[in-house]
Amino acid sequence: MAVTREQILDALCKAYNMELETVTNYLANSINLDGVRADFIKQALAADIQGELGHATQLGKRIKQLGGIVPGSLALKMTQKSLQPREDTTDVVDVIRGVLEAEEEAINHYRTLIKLTDGEDYVTQDLAITLLADEEGHRQQFQGYLKEYTKK
Ligand SMILES: [Fe+2]
Ligand SMILES: [Fe+2]
Repeated sequence: MAVTREQILDALCKAYNMELETVTNYLANSINLDGVRADFIKQALAADIQGELGHATQLGKRIKQLGGIVPGSLALKMTQKSLQPREDTTDVVDVIRGVLEAEEEAINHYRTLIKLTDGEDYVTQDLAITLLADEEGHRQQFQGYLKEYTKK
């Protein structure tokens, strides 16, 4: 059965929502963290905010191209438990693990979008592949930080 435009729009809106939640939580963590060890991660998060916002922008433009409506804040659902502010604002490792979880979720969703659009919507598929590559890059970057920060 062929995929419908509505199904593609739903998946694009979910991706848009996920990117904006990631922006919100990377921003909060880039400010909330304390300590010498946190400084580098704060900078990395602050830099990634621009990238994730760029993803949301590209997704929004594709939603518009397909005749959809880019959701406003009341239509967004926030569910990212792994990146909520920590009681211990020096717990950098826990934030890195949260980032990895968020990147993994994004990777899984872009894989779904690639499969959904296969043979049906090449432009959306191309965008999803580009964003998947970016998220895999982020995952690799933060896996490296985790390795260093958990070294005995
Ligand atoms: Fe992203
Ligand atoms: Fe990312």
